[in-house]
Amino acid sequence: MGEGTGGEVTETSHIRKSREQVVIRPNENLDPCAFVLFGATGDLTRRKIVPALYSLHCSGLLPDPFVVVAFARRDKDDSAFRADMKQAITEFAPQLSTEGAEWESFSARLYYHRSNLDDSEGYKNLGIRLAELDQEHKLGGNRLFYLATPPDNFSEIVHHLGEAGLNLTGDHKGWSRLIIEKPFGYDLETAKALNQELASVFKEDQVYRIDHYLGKETVQNILVLRFANQIFEPIWNKNYIDNIQITVAETLGMEGRGNYFEKSGITRDIVQNHALQVLTLIAMEPPVSLDADSVRDEKVKVLKAIRRFELDDVARYTVRGQYGHGDKDDLVGYRVEEGVAADSQTETFAAFQFSIENWRWAGVPFYVQAGKRMPKRVTEVQIQFKAIPEVLFARLGSGSLKPNRLTIRIQPDEGASMEIISKEPGPQMNIQPVRMDFKYGSAFDTPIRDAYERLILDAVRGDASLFARNDEVEEAWSIITPILNSWHNLTCPLFPNYAAGTWGPEAAQKLLTGGRGWNFPC
Ligand code: BG6
Repeated sequence: MGEGTGGEVTETSHIRKSREQVVIRPNENLDPCAFVLFGATGDLTRRKIVPALYSLHCSGLLPDPFVVVAFARRDKDDSAFRADMKQAITEFAPQLSTEGAEWESFSARLYYHRSNLDDSEGYKNLGIRLAELDQEHKLGGNRLFYLATPPDNFSEIVHHLGEAGLNLTGDHKGWSRLIIEKPFGYDLETAKALNQELASVFKEDQVYRIDHYLGKETVQNILVLRFANQIFEPIWNKNYIDNIQITVAETLGMEGRGNYFEKSGITRDIVQNHALQVLTLIAMEPPVSLDADSVRDEKVKVLKAIRRFELDDVARYTVRGQYGHGDKDDLVGYRVEEGVAADSQTETFAAFQFSIENWRWAGVPFYVQAGKRMPKRVTEVQIQFKAIPEVLFARLGSGSLKPNRLTIRIQPDEGASMEIISKEPGPQMNIQPVRMDFKYGSAFDTPIRDAYERLILDAVRGDASLFARNDEVEEAWSIITPILNSWHNLTCPLFPNYAAGTWGPEAAQKLLTGGRGWNFPC
């Protein structure tokens, strides 16, 4: 109970104070730098990156000095680029005002460098421009390159950056870092090849592979929930947990991304990266510290312990689906979306039962499902505990004795809830599950920032703990690639096999055995 009156539960001032100490991170200790953006006229830049930079600027969280240099092919100058970005912020971050001093000071930091991505001269000139900006703004020679281009361009850009000496691996004033967007490779082989190319130009500690899920507050909170509370760790294992369910459901269909998605499918798009990242945080052992490599070492151990599937396992432990028309006019089937083949075999839904073969998790199924055009946008993890022995309350019947369940809501309605069994008020011994609920929205006054803000700031700080390391990405692909290959060799289900706006194909229900079922997010 806090200091409130009349039994009201409020926050004690010391909790509030200690929270402020954790949350507020002044920008004074951040190195000045130039943020060089490739793919500067693309969708990601407009929707996420520039709004994130501007929001950080408005909160005083960017280093000072700091400049953004857009590297792109289109014929533009600084002022046209500034006007474009203003429009992007108005469209995608309307809560941020672009009238007034804040915008003026931010837009004065935006520069445009015109060049084709395959033009060596363009990179040399970029070097010259950066040196000038260094002089003008005192940037300390620090550069953060952000590759927000389609993945086909990654190797080329990296190669040219190296050729122009912009990787600064030698003895130089300042640092050079590279943020690289997903998809990181198409399968294990291509991911390895990309890692090798990166390694030939940048050292691993210069490379920041983005998985934006790791920038989400609720994903970071998994570690805090597990390791900053005494009550969870002793029961976080096969002795107490029956199964774990991870759901990444989206209501959206293709939204003009059909061309990309046709080659990707939900497994490459969501499962190989976001869902497996969440799984590793749920399953990992406590790291020795929170530094980047300690955390990532433990995550890699989980990935290594996941059983790799043979053809038979793929048939048994995986389900794929593709949506057809739903019951509303706007819920069109996948095959009629723009950029999608009329006989497409691409999966828009997938479900898996993974096994983690280590001491902690042997025998506990990890169910993962991800889908487009589901009834609800929700990402959550459900930890389903084992049932209690039906002795004491046996006469009440098993229906009332639901096992405890911890739900970690990653989005929306960020928070966590625990289902516990309680006695219903009244003369009878009636018992039923009730929910203890924690909601970010009401527990904290601080609004949740977009994941990109946190990740960009971490890269500026040189903290790679929320970025994927080379071996982590390869391990994840080594789990997924055999599944994708086996799907190719197995007979494909008759697509479409679920209606848009439903929870996926029938077969996904049968994946859960032993009396278990999906706990659909409500
Ligand atoms: C991206 C995928 O990585 O994540 C998209 O390419 C997906 O298909 C998106 O919609 C989901 O991100 P969020 O943050 O909206 O859950």
